[in-house]
Amino acid sequence: MTNKPAKPIMLFDCKTAQNVIGQDKFLKGFETILNHGAYCQGPETRELDEKLAQYSGVKHCSTCGSGTDALTLALMAWDVKPGDAVFVSSFTFVASAEAPVLLGATPIFVDSDPETYNMDPKDLQRAIDEVKKEGKLNLKAVVAVDIFGSPCNYDEIIKIAHANGMKVLSDSCQSYGSVYHGKKAGSIADMSATSFYPTKPLGCYGDGGAVFSNTDEENELVKSCRVHGMSPEDHYDNVRLGMTGRMNSFQAAVLLLKLTVFDKELKERARVAKRYDSELSDYFGKQKILDNCQSAYALYTIHCEDRDELMAYLKENGIPCGAYYPRPVNTQTAYAKWNTRSLPVCEKLSKTVLSLPMTPYLDDQDLDYIINTMNAFAAKKQNKAA
Ligand SMILES: Cc1ncc(COP(=O)(O)O)c(C=O)c1O
Repeated sequence: MTNKPAKPIMLFDCKTAQNVIGQDKFLKGFETILNHGAYCQGPETRELDEKLAQYSGVKHCSTCGSGTDALTLALMAWDVKPGDAVFVSSFTFVASAEAPVLLGATPIFVDSDPETYNMDPKDLQRAIDEVKKEGKLNLKAVVAVDIFGSPCNYDEIIKIAHANGMKVLSDSCQSYGSVYHGKKAGSIADMSATSFYPTKPLGCYGDGGAVFSNTDEENELVKSCRVHGMSPEDHYDNVRLGMTGRMNSFQAAVLLLKLTVFDKELKERARVAKRYDSELSDYFGKQKILDNCQSAYALYTIHCEDRDELMAYLKENGIPCGAYYPRPVNTQTAYAKWNTRSLPVCEKLSKTVLSLPMTPYLDDQDLDYIINTMNAFAAKKQNKAA
């Protein structure tokens, strides 16, 4: 077995980039904000909006307070309300479903594909047919989540949604930096929402998010809802319901600096994933990335039948790992009344998935140790079975 590295292995690494970029640069950015005094939505956020729109190849980006705000603001711009059905992946972080529920809509949970872990277009079609047959809800939108950073099957999902008069909101909260058939996250669906929570591929040092859209109208609505539904002409006339969804200038300053190393970090994440892909035993199932796509590798996730035993073994050996997500959203207490469909793949995934250390700064010694430790577990299991 390879020796355990002297420094601890990290599951996420939010801090090393600070040193790579230089702490002095962050301090200088913060000092500028302290001097100009525009703490919320200051010049840094406007510069960031432009840079992110350009990066994603989309007309508009409106930064906001978090990924949850971004999802909610996009759905507010589409006037999602009680009586609307919003189809959403269940194998995800709770916020993907929380946003439509906060607006009074009914979440219709959709099962996942067992290989990509993302929304299964066939089950989306089934769920739509069920809701249509019941005839009680208005078909409104689909929230498609790029789980662990890997793009969904957008061609199929968009085709099905549009054929049924619905828009598609990409929950790109884990996938900023991913690519689907040549298009970057943010530019693929009708609108997209991302998160800059520190552990995300592009992370700030607090909470942050952004909404991406291709039309002036949607962007104006998002910007208005972000500040309580304010009219652009008269700031004391709130013309619709909204929320406090602003990004603060300090987070924008962090993200402007993090953007300078983002492409390099994405390449490093891909390097780590490539080693896992090619060297981990076939005993472990690996998340399938669709052809012609690049994951942003927010996480590298495998599935195996003895997940809980593997997790305990890795932790004993100093390898941090996490079961994301041990409960699909439809099985969680607050969502019980919408737990109306059978989602066998989501249920199985929640019992079998395990996310391994994934940071741009894992070195060969870390990876040798993780891979050899994992493969020793697999060999023991395979020998037992033989
Ligand atoms: C898939 C997904 N959607 C939404 C969110 C919400 O983002 P935030 O924590 O920035 O509100 C997250 C964050 O973990 C997420 O992973």
